[in-house]
Amino acid sequence: MDYPYEEARPKRQYAAVFNVNKCIGCQTCTMSCKSTWTYSKGQEHMWWNNVETKPYGGYPQFWDHKLLEKLGPNKWSSATGQNGSVYSGKTIFEAAPIGEVALGYLPEDKEWQSPNIYEDTPTTTDPDKGPDESVDLVNLPAHTTWFFYLQRICNHCTHPACLAACPRKAIYKRQEDGIVLIDQNRCRGYRKCIELCPYKKPMYNLATRISEKCIGCYPRVEQGIEARCMAACVGKIRLQGLKNSLPEEAEANAENPLNYLIHIKKIALPLYPQYGTEPNIYYIPPRWIPKQFLYQMFGPGVDEALKVYSNMDEELLGVLSLFRSTQKILEKFNINSNQAVGYDAKGQEVIRVPIDEPVIVRPPKYHNTS
Ligand code: SF4
Ligand code: SF4
Ligand code: F3S
Repeated sequence: MDYPYEEARPKRQYAAVFNVNKCIGCQTCTMSCKSTWTYSKGQEHMWWNNVETKPYGGYPQFWDHKLLEKLGPNKWSSATGQNGSVYSGKTIFEAAPIGEVALGYLPEDKEWQSPNIYEDTPTTTDPDKGPDESVDLVNLPAHTTWFFYLQRICNHCTHPACLAACPRKAIYKRQEDGIVLIDQNRCRGYRKCIELCPYKKPMYNLATRISEKCIGCYPRVEQGIEARCMAACVGKIRLQGLKNSLPEEAEANAENPLNYLIHIKKIALPLYPQYGTEPNIYYIPPRWIPKQFLYQMFGPGVDEALKVYSNMDEELLGVLSLFRSTQKILEKFNINSNQAVGYDAKGQEVIRVPIDEPVIVRPPKYHNTS
C-alpha cells in the first residue's frame, strides 16, 4: 500500500475495544463528549462521539455506503472472511484518483444535520420466506428483523488519511500515544482532511473556519485516566487504554488487557479494515446479525471472534468484567481466585472484581412475608 509518509508506529498506541453486543444506545457517551468538548459556537453540528443504528443510520448520512460504493466490490481471499484471509481489493490510498492521496468525498452540509437519523430502524430478511437458513446467527434464535448500534469516534489510525490529506501539514500523530491531532494554529480550513478521512471524523467549525476532531481526551490520558466517552458508558461496553502497535510486541505483552483482547484472543476487530488506515478502535461484533454484513464491516476474523466470544473461558470473562470497573487506564491484568485484578502504569492494583457474582440467599428469618 502506498502511504505518503514513512511509517512511524508509536510504541504505545491509544486504542479501545467496544463490545457492540452490550450497547443499549443510550447516547450517554455522545453527550459526555459534547458537554466536554463541543458545546461552543460553531460546534453545534459536531458529535466527535456518535452512536448510529446500522444498517441505515450514519453521521454524516450514509458515510460508509458512499465510500464503499466508490471503492467498488472488495474481496478477501476466503469468501467467508476467515482469519488469515488476504484482502485483494484496493485500499483508499491505492484507489486514489490522480492528484489525490486517497479516495474520498466531502459530505454536503445537510448530511451532518441529523446525527440520529434512522435510529432504531430495523431491516429485515424477507418475512414471507422466513429466516435465511444460510445465515449462521451464532447460537442465537434467528432474527428476520435486525439492527445494531455502532459506536464511533476517531480511530487515531496508524496510517491516518486525514494527516496524509492536509496540504498544510497541520495534522500530526503523537509519538507518545499515537493520538492524532489537528494543530489549530496551522489549520486553514482546507477540509481535505474531512474529504479523505474514510470515517468522516474531522469536522469543520463554522465559527472559526478551521477543522477540529476528537482529541482522544489526551489531557485525561496523560493522567492515566480514560476518555470521557469511555468512562461515562452506562452499558459498560468500552475499555480504553494504550496497546502495543505491532502484533509481535503485543503478543510479548499479553497481560495488557487491550493486547489480550485484540491480538491474543482476537475477539475485537477493526472497522472497515479494507480502507487501509489501520484504525485503532476495535469492535466485538454483534452476534445476531447476518454474517455477510459483518464480513463487509469488520473483515476477516468475524467467525473466529464470535466463536471465542460465544465460548469464553474464565480468563476472557475476567477481562470483560474489567470493562467500566474503574476510570483508570489499566496497563495489566491478572486472574486470581475467581477475581479479575487490574493494575495501573506504576504496577499498582487499582481494581479487583469478582468474575462470578456471588449468589446470596436471604435466610428465612429475614423474610418479610411468609
Ligand atoms: Fe484521521 Fe479519520 Fe483516522 Fe481519525 S479516523 S485518525 S480523522 S483518518
Ligand atoms: Fe452505548 Fe455506552 Fe454509548 Fe450508552 S454510553 S450508547 S451503552 S456506548
Ligand atoms: Fe488541513 Fe484539514 Fe485544516 S486539510 S488545513 S487540517 S481543514
